[in-house]
Amino acid sequence: MKSIKINSDTGESVVMIGEGLENLKAHLPVEYPIIITDLNVHDLWGAHFPQGPIITVGTGEKIKSFDTLGYIFDQLIALEADRSSFIVGIGGGIVCDIAGFVASTYMRGLRFGFVSTTLLSQVDASVGGKNGVNFKGYKNMVGVFNQPEFVICDLNMLSTLPREELCCGFAEIIKHGVIADKSMFDYIEKHCSQALALDLNVIEKLVYDSVVIKSRIVNQDARERGLRRQLNFGHTFGHAIEKTLQIRHGEAVSAGMVLASELSVKRGNLQEPHATRLYGLLEKYRLPVRLPYDESEVLAAIKMDKKREGDHIKFVLLSEIGRAYVDDVPIQELVDLVRS
Ligand SMILES: NC(=O)c1ccc[n+]([C@@H]2O[C@H](COP(=O)([O-])OP(=O)(O)OC[C@H]3O[C@@H](n4cnc5c(N)ncnc54)[C@H](O)[C@@H]3O)[C@@H](O)[C@H]2O)c1
Ligand SMILES: [Zn+2]
Repeated sequence: MKSIKINSDTGESVVMIGEGLENLKAHLPVEYPIIITDLNVHDLWGAHFPQGPIITVGTGEKIKSFDTLGYIFDQLIALEADRSSFIVGIGGGIVCDIAGFVASTYMRGLRFGFVSTTLLSQVDASVGGKNGVNFKGYKNMVGVFNQPEFVICDLNMLSTLPREELCCGFAEIIKHGVIADKSMFDYIEKHCSQALALDLNVIEKLVYDSVVIKSRIVNQDARERGLRRQLNFGHTFGHAIEKTLQIRHGEAVSAGMVLASELSVKRGNLQEPHATRLYGLLEKYRLPVRLPYDESEVLAAIKMDKKREGDHIKFVLLSEIGRAYVDDVPIQELVDLVRS
C-alpha cells in the first residue's frame, strides 16, 4: 500500500493506493458511517461493506442530478444524520461526485471519505476535491471544491469492472503521462499487456504515478486558474464528443487527445512522430482514435464550453511526449481542424 498526502487550499486528504475495502473500518472516525453507493457496487461488493446505513443510487450520468440529491437528503433526514455523522462514498466517479457534494452541503458540511472503485475514479476523481452534479444537461454545473478526508483505491475491486470501463481509466492514465511525464508514458507503452490483464504491480504503479502527477498540479493550482488546465488535455473536444455521441468519457477523451495532438502538429509545436506514438498507444489500450461524430454538433458544443472566452478558448496543446501547455486558440482554428 502506498499513500499520498494532498495539501491544497481546498483541504487535506490522503489517497491510499492498494488499501482494501475490508480495512475501511480502520480509517473511520465513527462506528457506523453512512454509506452512499450505487446498485452495481452494492450487488458486487456490499457483503464487504462495514456496518452502517446504506443509501443506494442508480447508475449512469443521469443519476448525477438534483433528484438524486433530494432523495439522499430525504434519507439523511430520516436517518437523523447530524454534524457528527460520517459519509463514505463507495463507487466510481459518479458516486464519489454525488457523495462529496451531499457531504459538503448537508447541514453545511459533514466529514466524508471515499472508496474509489473504478480505475477512472482512482486516477482522476480521487484527487482534486471537485464534487458536484449535472444540471439541465450541463455537466458538473453545480458543485464545490472540498477534499474527502481519505480516498481508498482498492485495486482488487477493479477485477469486477467491465473492460470498457477499465479502458476509460487507461485514457486518463495515458493523458497524465503524455502531458507531464515521458518516463511514465514509456512505462505505459512497455507494460500494456500486463496493465490490461490487471497485473497488480503494474496497476499500482500507474495509479500511483497518476495520483502523484495530478496532486502535484492540483497542489499548485487548486482552483484551476492556470497549471491545472493542463489536466484538460483532450477534454475540450472530448466533452463535446461525449455530449453529442453519448459515449463513455474515456473514449471521448481518447478521440479528443488525438484531435488536440493533430492541432499541435498543425501549429508546428509537436513533431508528427510524437503524435503518431500517442495514437498507437491509445489503440493498444483499445481506445478509439476516431469517432463518427457530427461535426456541427461537436462545434456547437465547443462554443458552449466553460473555458471559452469570446472567440478564443483556453486549449491544451502538446509540445512533446511528456510536456503540455495552454494557449488561447481561436475557435475558428478548431472549426477548421474539425472540418479538415
Ligand atoms: N471529481 C472529479 O475530479 C472527477 C474526475 C473525473 C471524473 N469525474 C466524474 O466521474 C464520473 C465518471 O466516473 P466513472 O468512470 O468511475 O463512472 P461510474 O461511477 O459511472 O462507474 C462506471 C460503471 O462501473 C460500475 N462500477 C463501479 N465500480 C465497479 C466495480 N468495482 N466493479 C464493477 N462495476 C463497477 C458503476 O456502477 C458504473 O456502472 C463522471 O460523472 C465524471 O464527471 C469526476
Ligand atoms: Zn477526464
